[in-house]
Amino acid sequence: MGSKISIAVLASGRGSNFQAIINGIAKGEVNADIKVLITNNPEAQAIERAKKAKIPIEIIDEKKSGMREQLDLEIKKTLDKYNVDLVVLAGYMKLIKSKELLQAYRNRIINIHPSLLPAFQGLHAQKQAFDYGAKVSGLTIHFLDEQLDHGPIIYQEAVDISDCKDEEEAAEKILNREHKAYKKVIDSFSKGKYVIEGRRAKFVPY
Ligand code: GAR
Repeated sequence: MGSKISIAVLASGRGSNFQAIINGIAKGEVNADIKVLITNNPEAQAIERAKKAKIPIEIIDEKKSGMREQLDLEIKKTLDKYNVDLVVLAGYMKLIKSKELLQAYRNRIINIHPSLLPAFQGLHAQKQAFDYGAKVSGLTIHFLDEQLDHGPIIYQEAVDISDCKDEEEAAEKILNREHKAYKKVIDSFSKGKYVIEGRRAKFVPY
């Protein structure tokens, strides 16, 4: 079964991936404890989800914390306080720029992106794919590095969007798969470790 890992989740909005992780833990599919939800958005729906699940919430309102760089430093301070094994970005829509944060948590921050990277980086990846006419898009789970949607790849999955009639349908189809994939990948951290080999993160079981 491996040993339970402690995680922090960062989310900016709806938080459906966050909810999938909460549910996965409750069902015993994810061998983890969520120590804290951190959000930059006081209006995030994720906050309600955390309250219901009795997960501590830290709101770091970027508008109040003054300079943009301050946000990352506040996040680092908060992460240090909760002492987690893994930091999970789940719809966290701010670029993490601070070298101090990235270096302190190197290969311990993971992100999920709704496309097969390097295709369709940045915002609204599902709309980008749909508008491009892509028949296949997908999702990527990767470690964070200094560049946008770029770090070593942990997991990718293709999703057929050829029959989707609009971008919303494509986004929904990808999102359903995100929920399942993120749970599995987070759980895998309790069963082994990832070794970085070039651009890929390779799973080595305990
Ligand atoms: C998800 O589709 C996630 O992959 C995406 O935002 C959505 C958040 O939904 N993230 C990015 O685009 C990051 N570049 P959620 O808040 O319901 O989990």
